[in-house]
Amino acid sequence: MPVHPEVENAIKGFLLDQEKMAEVVERMTKEMKMGLAKDTHPRAVIKCFVSYVQDLPTGKERGKCLALDLGGSNFRVLLVVLNGEAGVDIQSKSYVFPSTLMTGTADELFDFIAASLGDFCIENGLENESLPLGFTFSFPCQQKGINKGTLVSWTKGFNVPGVVGKNVVELLQQAIERRGEVRINIVAILNDTVGTLMSCAYHNRNCRIGLIVGTGTNACYVEKTVNAECFENYQTSPKQSMIINCEWGAFGDNGVLEFARTSYDKIVDKVTPNPGRQTFEKCISGMYMGEIVRLIVVEMIAKGVMFHGETSQKIQNRWAFQSAYLSDVESDAVGEYRHTNKVIRDMGFMGNNEADKINLRRICEAVSSRSAKLCACGLVTLINKMNINEVVVGIDGSVYRYHPKYHDMLTMYMKQLLKPGVKFELTVSEDGSGKGAALVAATAAQSK
Ligand code: BGC
Repeated sequence: MPVHPEVENAIKGFLLDQEKMAEVVERMTKEMKMGLAKDTHPRAVIKCFVSYVQDLPTGKERGKCLALDLGGSNFRVLLVVLNGEAGVDIQSKSYVFPSTLMTGTADELFDFIAASLGDFCIENGLENESLPLGFTFSFPCQQKGINKGTLVSWTKGFNVPGVVGKNVVELLQQAIERRGEVRINIVAILNDTVGTLMSCAYHNRNCRIGLIVGTGTNACYVEKTVNAECFENYQTSPKQSMIINCEWGAFGDNGVLEFARTSYDKIVDKVTPNPGRQTFEKCISGMYMGEIVRLIVVEMIAKGVMFHGETSQKIQNRWAFQSAYLSDVESDAVGEYRHTNKVIRDMGFMGNNEADKINLRRICEAVSSRSAKLCACGLVTLINKMNINEVVVGIDGSVYRYHPKYHDMLTMYMKQLLKPGVKFELTVSEDGSGKGAALVAATAAQSK
């Protein structure tokens, strides 16, 4: 049964061909260079922040650290013991993160984090130890050192006034001291992509890129220190490499990505707390994909093309179509509709027929394949920039983990874009904000 022509027409804008993908790579390459270079950095859109992480793991690290993870789908506190070659032990606890904190006050946010940390330490009998802590804070931060990070902007639905422009390490340290429950020293702040890279590199010496495709998206990679011009010691540092936190989600905020965007993207952008920001991220990540699909479905209903033109209460609600639904719909084999039926029921549609399911699947596929294409463009940009012939990419995030085709799509599109002979491996990286954060914190604690 064919997809309805109106649906084909609506999704046209999502079908990036090879030529457009090559154009994305070219534009992104230019923007990344601007971020890295000192004189263009202030006006660059892809900031390429220096992470101050210069040592990739050896696998022999030792130490006991705490880690905190804020900015993904869970808020977690972790205790990590690095036992040299004997491996890593992790204990962790997820705390329910009230969504009101995402838009509350800075004190509420940091007091909550400090309280959870206190609770975790007391529960694990750590209150009298003075442990180093690695803070995985997954928002764009301008770093001035391994434990100094100034928030540049909020993303992913967070909008807590009074934090942008401040050193978040200081805000957290003050909150910990206000409570006075535990003695903790925040020795490192890191982006989740950096934790992901480190955690993958711990097992895999060829890992050079950390990628997140979850609620948000971003990547980091290993650059030569001499190219990291925004690092004050870039010419004199004895260490060869520096991990660069690209913050690629902001790509396109200056308009260079318009040719890959659609009218639906523009509607989604307008209803976010950060309109005009994170353009690339809004085309790729889990926070937005479901909403894009919802907007197309609503339009198809209004045109009488889907669900007999009969809407449901649920589908009219902003953000009601979760990105996990794309994974569900696309996990059905062609011609089977077990998961699709459930999604359709969840969305409150009574009457539907096979054509509706085929159309819905086509819409989901268009949105998720564009996401994978753009992500592939980003990875290819980084691989070309590093100019290497073999690389492992450590990946985390709900979209990559749970979308049934994402890994295969990424692989396919990357192959289409990479120079012949370049080999790559995409692998799930476990425990970036645990193991990865501890690897960074352990090194930072030693060099104090
Ligand atoms: C943030 C990044 C983060 C990414 C994935 C983006 O919204 O700006 O710092 O790495 O989400 O969590």
